Amino acid sequence: MDDQELIDQAIAVRDQAYCVYSGFRVGAALLDDEGNVHVGCNVENASYPQGSCAETGAIAAMVAAGSRKIVAIAVAGGSEKLTSCTPCGGCRQRIREFAEDDARIIVIDDDDDWRTYTMGELLPSSFHLDADF
Ligand code: THU
Repeated sequence: MDDQELIDQAIAVRDQAYCVYSGFRVGAALLDDEGNVHVGCNVENASYPQGSCAETGAIAAMVAAGSRKIVAIAVAGGSEKLTSCTPCGGCRQRIREFAEDDARIIVIDDDDDWRTYTMGELLPSSFHLDADF
């Protein structure tokens, strides 16, 4: 699984976004430590705070599949064309629950461009408890 495949899956699942309120589509594809990919898209709600982010959906899919470690996650977002969509603060903490500081967060831009950050860059000095999973 190379980065391009992960990026392609994030872009593909973005088409499934339920974003009738914001019009901002987001897709996320994460690679776990067993080499499996889990995807999610944003799912909005008439009661706005009840909506969920694409990253949250991908993490839930990973956990439901029995995996517990994120190696890399690609995020594709935008209203029409792709615009840089770095994970929101809440999702950075959700990713951190299952990712080490060196996990890669790939933010996809327009024109098939992307930028790779590390978990530690996007959430330095993060709060984390060593759960026994
Ligand atoms: N959104 C995500 O899915 N992930 C992020 O990291 C940022 C924001 C969604 C939430 C909402 O449905 C829409 O984008 C606009 O904020």
